Amino acid sequence: MTDVTVRTLLRMKRKGEKIAMMTAYDYPTAKLLSQAGMHVLLVGDSVGMVVQGHTTTIPVTLDQLVYHANMVSRGAGDGVMVVADLPFLTYQITPEDAMRHAARMMQEGGVHAIKLEGGQSIVPTVERLVTAGIPVMGHIGLTPQSVHAFGGFSVQGRRAEEANRLVEDALALEKAGAFAVVLEAIPAEVAKVITESLRVPTIGIGAGPHCDGQVLVFHDFSGYTTGYIPKHNKPYLQLGDLIVQAAQQYVEEVQSGAFPGEPQTVHLKAEERDAFFEVHGEEAKGE
Ligand code: KIV
Repeated sequence: MTDVTVRTLLRMKRKGEKIAMMTAYDYPTAKLLSQAGMHVLLVGDSVGMVVQGHTTTIPVTLDQLVYHANMVSRGAGDGVMVVADLPFLTYQITPEDAMRHAARMMQEGGVHAIKLEGGQSIVPTVERLVTAGIPVMGHIGLTPQSVHAFGGFSVQGRRAEEANRLVEDALALEKAGAFAVVLEAIPAEVAKVITESLRVPTIGIGAGPHCDGQVLVFHDFSGYTTGYIPKHNKPYLQLGDLIVQAAQQYVEEVQSGAFPGEPQTVHLKAEERDAFFEVHGEEAKGE
């Protein structure tokens, strides 16, 4: 695949080619998703919920996301764009904080771009980063870092006034230099208007079919979970069920002695065997 850059994504939008993005948090997942032709990998702070077992993304720290970003960057195939979230309150206090933290994410995490949650309120930060040459992906609608302010993980922009504010947020992010905007959990009609109003691509999750691309959380997509699956998700795999079935078989085989079998067992070569049992006696062979 040729390199996916901010310009590639713009071109894809212009040509009406849809963008496929998925979260990844480790090396093998990044490698496999790249092999499948994913355009963008997102090192999302959703790691806090689907990997760390928290109920929100708020506990995720910058050190943790840099650690995951580094693994994903090494697993991502040539040409795949890797984007990472900046976690809760690592960019909202001052644009200078955002600069320092984005620098860590790019230098230590090896990512190509940063994703920030928020609309008009984060415009000065987006401008500061973009001016410094840091590509920024916006994220509006249900922004999980604000879950407590929303009072839960609920669809945003259901009322006309709120929906209009989302359109303004998206336009403000584009004007500030964002190269793409994630639209999470908003009505399809609102996502369509935003998508048609922006020059840069929109990437939807729970935002209907009219966005320029779609993103799913890897664990939701693959069924690698025992927990809640959001309504917008389509489980393409039942990895959790497969793991439980295979693990049950493993437990049974360990207990019955069927595992390890001959193919998984190493033996001494004949002369070493003779020398060994000369010391330990014939009965130690246990045959
Ligand atoms: O953290 C994440 O996985 C995200 C996606 C849901 C867009 O932000």
